[in-house]
Amino acid sequence: MDAITLLKADHKKVGELLEDIKGLSQSAHVERRKLFEQIDRDLTVHSKIEETIFYPALKKKAQIGNDDDAKQEVLEAYEEHSNVKGMLKKLERTEATDETYNAKLQVLGELVKHHVHEEEHEMFREARDLMSETELDALGVELARAKEELMSGGPA
Ligand SMILES: [Fe+2]
Ligand SMILES: [Fe+2]
Repeated sequence: MDAITLLKADHKKVGELLEDIKGLSQSAHVERRKLFEQIDRDLTVHSKIEETIFYPALKKKAQIGNDDDAKQEVLEAYEEHSNVKGMLKKLERTEATDETYNAKLQVLGELVKHHVHEEEHEMFREARDLMSETELDALGVELARAKEELMSGGPA
């Protein structure tokens, strides 16, 4: 699986989980908590493998190719991740019964949607221009390995 296919599959999964959690009733606290923990973990792992593997590789290619747009995309993505992380932290500290919980969840969903759109419609296109299929395959292997380690709680 090449890097872009892997990252897109992650986006699809987390998008579905975010829809699922919105569909749960306010009173389903235990289910909401469990689903949030999964979203939190999936988003954290996904962000980490992008930040440590995919973004640096793309940024390097952008610099070599003098592609300022692609470089800017990468720098913006780091900032957007930081906003997503901030909202995840807030939700970690908020009880599902709190009146602000849904508002926070809604904003998290919007941040993620916007970010995923930028990646899929801009950054990944730039990446396909700047990287060969062989390079994207090799990055995919690296991403999959790091993801597996993080999911099992190991280093990476
Ligand atoms: Fe992503
Ligand atoms: Fe991202």
